[in-house]
Amino acid sequence: MATAATARGGIARRAWVVGTTFGRHALHRREPLPRRVRNAFTELGPTFVKVGQVIASSPGLFPHEWLVEFASLRDRVPPFPGAEARRIVEEDLGRPLRSAFATFDDEPIAAASIGQVHGATLLDGSRVVVKVQRPGLERQVRSDLRALLLLCEVLERIPQTAVGSPRALAEDFARTLHEEMDFRLEADNMERMRSILDQDRIADARVPEVHHDLVGKRVLTMERIDGIHFSDVEAMRAAGLDTQRLLRMGVQTVIEGVLVHGFFHGDLHAGNISVLPDGTFVLFDFGIVGRLTESVRARLAQYLIASTTNDYEAMIRALDSFGSIPEGVDIPAMAAELQELYKPFVENGVLVAQLGELMETMIRSMVQHRVRIPRELVLLSKQMLYLEGAAHTLAPDVDLLGEQNLIYETLFAKYPELAMDLVAAVQRGREMDAAIANDRRR
Ligand SMILES: Nc1ncnc2c1ncn2[C@@H]1O[C@H](COP(=O)(O)OP(=O)(O)O)[C@@H](O)[C@H]1O
Ligand SMILES: [Mg+2]
Repeated sequence: MATAATARGGIARRAWVVGTTFGRHALHRREPLPRRVRNAFTELGPTFVKVGQVIASSPGLFPHEWLVEFASLRDRVPPFPGAEARRIVEEDLGRPLRSAFATFDDEPIAAASIGQVHGATLLDGSRVVVKVQRPGLERQVRSDLRALLLLCEVLERIPQTAVGSPRALAEDFARTLHEEMDFRLEADNMERMRSILDQDRIADARVPEVHHDLVGKRVLTMERIDGIHFSDVEAMRAAGLDTQRLLRMGVQTVIEGVLVHGFFHGDLHAGNISVLPDGTFVLFDFGIVGRLTESVRARLAQYLIASTTNDYEAMIRALDSFGSIPEGVDIPAMAAELQELYKPFVENGVLVAQLGELMETMIRSMVQHRVRIPRELVLLSKQMLYLEGAAHTLAPDVDLLGEQNLIYETLFAKYPELAMDLVAAVQRGREMDAAIANDRRR
């Protein structure tokens, strides 16, 4: 009993610190609100930095200024000492460092809020990197999350803030963060992506090989692959790489993963992608991935097809079934609204925007109608937006839309059954709609 009471006291204290930290930053009225909140997040540490990163990767759910402000929350964390990293490796793997590693660099290659990455070599001389979780992270996150839930319960009682259902958001966030803190799951995600890449013969994309005997909850050892940083367009050009082809491959890998396997990298940004001099794409960091259930995948296909034929009602219906549309929403009215929103993207009756842009616009309007959009879809639109943004630097002259069509053609040629699948999915969607409409009439 005593411990439970102390724990509650600790959480209340932390909730108090969190509340007052926000309050203090909120008073800096000369700064824009998103900046003030960001400063509070930075001060409050890893859990809140992660909250900020979730905001940054949720286009459509938050205003644009917030996305921009929080995008810079990435990876600006002082490293912890190499000796600590060694200790965690030994503790987590349950063996002396010397029994597995010939060398282990004290200076990390990179440090972020969850962990840091150290270069090392195995006894056989192979070069690896070891991702090590921040000491004491789990405990801190656990108490932060409880404090956060407590605050959300308060917000839930205030009509103005209850609309966004803060509690549900926080619970969703807690689940993802727990997954991200278990590096064994990350290792599984890497294996799944590897097998997809192998199976699909996407020969030009790679995921580092995992050393499974050297993986624990807080330690992930993998093959070291040094390449050109994805934002270093100059270096790619100097290496004679075709950046247009790289871009197409990036988009294709995502679309193929989504449509064929319902699986995608959920944190694409320059820090998690590098390119080898032979044009191979390397993907790092599988802490966040998207997994689409069969029915979401079918709905997404339905949405994509509807968007290529400008069928706004079908688009709304497809999205309707992703989230839970509140009773009594007027779908034809929503479709008309969407058509209005999409007007700037239409030329000669054809949608000329990229998928990510369209999804963001759509999510924004759905949220206004209080539709709950599944996190996976928001995550997917973020990945598409990232690639579309990267297109501006990688291949400014490329018509990505044309590329997208090319990608679908390539996909359909490679998986003839996929085209059938999509048509069947649309059919299933129509049947589901009819059944739902019937239910509502009754
Ligand atoms: N297998 C690897 N080989 C070479 N460098 C790597 C490897 N894995 C990670 N890195 C480097 O370390 C950085 C951080 O790794 P990442 O897995 O993205 O960790 P975090 O979750 O902290 O962002 C990457 O941006 C990359 O530069
Ligand atoms: Mg990373």
